[in-house]
Amino acid sequence: MLMRSNRFTLAVCILCLGIWCCGQAYNTEEAAPMEKAEQAALYSAIQGFVGNWWNGSDLYPDPCGWTPIQGVSCDIVGGLWYITALSIGPFYENSLACATNVEFRPQLFQLKHLKSLSFFNCFVSLRHPITIPGDKWEKLAGSLQSIEFRSNPGLIGQVPTSFGYLKKLQSLVLLENRLTGQVPTNIGNLTNLNRLVLAGNRFTGRIPDSFGRLKKLLILDLSRNSLSGHLPLGLGGLASLLKFDLSNNQLKGKLFARNAYLKNLTLLDVRNNKFSGGLNQPILDMHSLEELMLSCNPLGGDIMRLDWQSLQSLVVLDLSNVGLKGEIPESLSGLKRLEVSGTW
Ligand SMILES: *[C@@H]1O[C@H](CO)[C@@H](O)[C@H](O)[C@H]1NC(C)=O
Ligand SMILES: *[C@@H]1O[C@H](CO)[C@@H](O)[C@H](O)[C@H]1NC(C)=O
Ligand SMILES: *[C@@H]1O[C@H](CO)[C@@H](O)[C@H](O)[C@H]1NC(C)=O
Repeated sequence: MLMRSNRFTLAVCILCLGIWCCGQAYNTEEAAPMEKAEQAALYSAIQGFVGNWWNGSDLYPDPCGWTPIQGVSCDIVGGLWYITALSIGPFYENSLACATNVEFRPQLFQLKHLKSLSFFNCFVSLRHPITIPGDKWEKLAGSLQSIEFRSNPGLIGQVPTSFGYLKKLQSLVLLENRLTGQVPTNIGNLTNLNRLVLAGNRFTGRIPDSFGRLKKLLILDLSRNSLSGHLPLGLGGLASLLKFDLSNNQLKGKLFARNAYLKNLTLLDVRNNKFSGGLNQPILDMHSLEELMLSCNPLGGDIMRLDWQSLQSLVVLDLSNVGLKGEIPESLSGLKRLEVSGTW
C-alpha cells in the first residue's frame, strides 16, 4: 500500500515537473525568467568593478541562461532567476578582471539573494585605494553566507561595523589586504561563523571579548597583524575550534591559563608574540593537537615539570626561543609521532 502511494506521488511529481517546465518555456520568450531590476543591478554592480567599457546587456544578455558570466552563479527562487554568487578578480583565466578605478555601486546591495561575495586581487592600485563601504550591508543580511576579500593591497580602512548585521554569515575571510584599525566588536554577533580569517592585514588593538560568542568556529586565523593585549578568556570556550592561528602579533599575557576547553584543536600557532607565564595545563590537555607552534615568545618556565602525556596526536612541536629551562622530560619522548624542533 505504502509502495503504491509512493509511486503515485512520484508520478504526480513528474507530471508537475513537466507542466512546470513547459510553463516556464511558454511564459518566457528567449531569455530565462529574471526580473529586469535584478539583471540591471547585476550589470551595474559588475561595471563598477571592471570599468565602464563593460556592457553587460550587450555581452551577456542572458546571464543565468545561455550567456553565463564567469564568476556569477544563479539560482531559481520562486520561479525566477536570482544571483547567488559573485566572484570578481582573476580566479580563472577568463574571469572578470578589475579596473584601476574601482567602485562599489549601490546596485550590489540590491542582489537580494546573494549568498557569496568574493574579491580576489581586485583592489590592487595603491594610488587609488578603496575602502569597504560602511552602510547598506544590512540589505544583504537575509542571504549572505560568505564574504571573501583576498589579496587586495589597495583595500584600506576599517572593517565596517555593519558587517555585524550579516547574521547568516558562515565564512568571513579578509586575507592579505591593508585593512587597519580595531576589529569591530560586533563581529562577535555573527554566531553562525565557522570560519573567521583576518590574517595579513594591519589590524591593531585588542581581540574583542565578543569573539568568545563564536561557538561554531572551526577556523580562527588572526595571524600577521598588530593585535595587542591579552587574549580574551572566552576564546578558551570555543570548543569546536580545529585551527587557531595567532602568530605574528604583539599579544601578551598568559596563554590559556585556565578555562580552556579546546579538545578538538589540531593546530595552535602563537609564534612571534609576547606571551609569558610558562606553558599551562589547559594546553597540555588539548589532546587532539597535532601542531603546537610556540617559538619566539618569552614564555619561560620549566619544561621538566610539564606532563606531555595526553598530547598523543602531537606531530610538530616548535619550542625555539621560548626560554624554557630544563632537560627534555620523559613524557615528551613518549610521544610516538613527534618531531621536536627548537633549542632552548
Ligand atoms: C549597452 O549597450 C546598449 C546598446 O548597445 C545601450 O543601449 C546601453 O545604454 C549600454 N549600457 C551601458 C551601461 O553602457
Ligand atoms: C551586536 O554587537 C554589539 C556589540 O557587541 C551589541 O551592542 C549589539 O546589541 C549587537 N547587535 C545585534 C543586532 O545583535
Ligand atoms: C569534536 O569533534 C568530534 C568528532 O569530529 C565531534 O563529534 C564533536 O562534536 C566536536 N566537538 C565540538 C565541541 O565541536
